[in-house]
Amino acid sequence: MSTIILCQLDDIADGGALGLPQHTQRSPQGLVAVRRGDQAWVYVNRCPHFSVPLNYHPEVFCTYRGQVLMCAHHSAMFSFESGMCVDGPCKGAALEQVPVQLIDGKLQM
Ligand code: FES
Repeated sequence: MSTIILCQLDDIADGGALGLPQHTQRSPQGLVAVRRGDQAWVYVNRCPHFSVPLNYHPEVFCTYRGQVLMCAHHSAMFSFESGMCVDGPCKGAALEQVPVQLIDGKLQM
């Protein structure tokens, strides 16, 4: 299977999130990447609460203190590292993680 370059690490704000709506292999709404320092994680952009995208507006995702990604609908909060919902209406559920590698500053899957 060929490698897909999702984005550059520096495309993602440190402590923030970047929507990757063009990458629809796993979901029509695409993916979302979150970053803290030199680490990044990628998830399918689908909240486990109501199976809807985590954002209202393209490219606009809410994060808090570089720790959690928040769903725009009912404020479920998901850990950057694990995708687990740590607070909110679907506590204990998790986002679907997409395994990625960081090579030469590029996030690849
Ligand atoms: S749809 Fe995400 S918290 Fe309800």
